[in-house]
Parts: sequence; structure tokens; C-alpha cells
Amino acid sequence: MIAHNSPPLDLGGAKLFKGMLTRASQETLVDVLREVAVTAPFFHPVTQSGKQMSVRMTSAGRLGWVSDRRGYRYEPRHPNGATWPAIPDLVMDVWRAVANIDRCPDCCLINYYGEGARMGMHQDKDEVDFSYPVVSISLGDDALFRIGGTVRRGMTQSMWLQSGDVLMMDGAARLAYHGIDRLRFGSSDLLKGNGRINLTLRVVAAEPTDDTNA
Ligand code: SIN
Ligand code: FE2
Repeated sequence: MIAHNSPPLDLGGAKLFKGMLTRASQETLVDVLREVAVTAPFFHPVTQSGKQMSVRMTSAGRLGWVSDRRGYRYEPRHPNGATWPAIPDLVMDVWRAVANIDRCPDCCLINYYGEGARMGMHQDKDEVDFSYPVVSISLGDDALFRIGGTVRRGMTQSMWLQSGDVLMMDGAARLAYHGIDRLRFGSSDLLKGNGRINLTLRVVAAEPTDDTNA
């Protein structure tokens, strides 16, 4: 059972459920993700201009997020041609516990941050309906998360996200600029070889279908 017992902290309008996943749940989740990565191996996305991103990525769910020379978009298949694996039950439990809505996410984006990896400030806006929240789960090393408003160069706030933290961007924060400035590489012993995994859950498409979670 995944639940949150205390009200979330406010982080620039986003909701931070600090330490929501126990160490045992985090370990289970890492094992489950290892299996996801067998069917859907992590890959190094490149931007349209051909620049390699510093994170490695894969996805679960009926749609996965990809970026390559053709640009970035949601795709029903991994670049290797396989359909994405199902979103793990434990991840769905987290979504249900915090999002509290009757709609499954279409995509669970899985980002791996190795030493020196970061994520530039951006908005999550490739989805059709911004009334659905974005829920993200942090595993492994601490990461300095930065969040601003809906304009690129506005004021920002920063906070270290730690293993087991769950963050929800909804309401006014749904389209907030956000990114990861840096990692405290080696700060957690959850992942062999250190680093950080972030899972991002999103409703992407307008209508749920029978295979939403397939
Ligand atoms: C993202 O916004 O794509 C990732 C955020 C994070 O790694 O916490
Ligand atoms: Fe994002």
C-alpha cells in the first residue's frame, strides 16, 4: 500500500510529498525498473540539433517520450521497435495516491542521471490536457530541482529532491518551468553504481483507451 500521511510541502506551487516511498518500496521499484529496462533499454536521446542529452531515457506505458533528429514527441514504440512495457503496479499506486483522479497516465518516462547529468529548464507541454497533473518520483542520489513560473526567465526556487520523494505539478504549477541543476553524485546507495532515476507520469492523449496501461 502506498499512501501519504502528511500534507505535501509547497515547492513553487508544486506539491512535494517528502519521503513518501519507504526504502523497501524504493528497492522493489528499482528491481521492477530493471525488468522494464530489459524490454525497453535506456538510450541516449539527442536533440533535433544533434546534441546528446546528458540523461539516459526509456519509458513505460502506451506512449513513450523520445527525442531524436526528427524532434521530440510521444511514440507508441521504443526506438528498437518494441511496444513499451506496462507501467509497473507500484508506480500506478503512487499515481493513484497523489493524483486522486479516475484516469491512468499514458506515459511513465524514466530518466537516468549519471555523474554530471542535468536537465535544463523546460515546461512539460507536449500533452493535450494540462488539467491533468504531472507526478514524478525520485530514486537514488539527491538532485537539486529548480522550479519557476510559466515564463522562462522568472524567479525560481530550488530544493534537493531525495530518494523516495514524490512531486506533483498540477494547477498553476502544471506549466511551471523546471529542471535539475545538479546531482550529489554518490549521496545514496540505492542504485548500484550510484546516480539517480526519475519517473515522470503523464496523461498524454485526449481519450483513455482500453490499453491505456498496456
Ligand atoms: C523532468 O522534468 O523531466 C525531470 C525532473 C526530475 O528529474 O526530477
Ligand atoms: Fe519535466
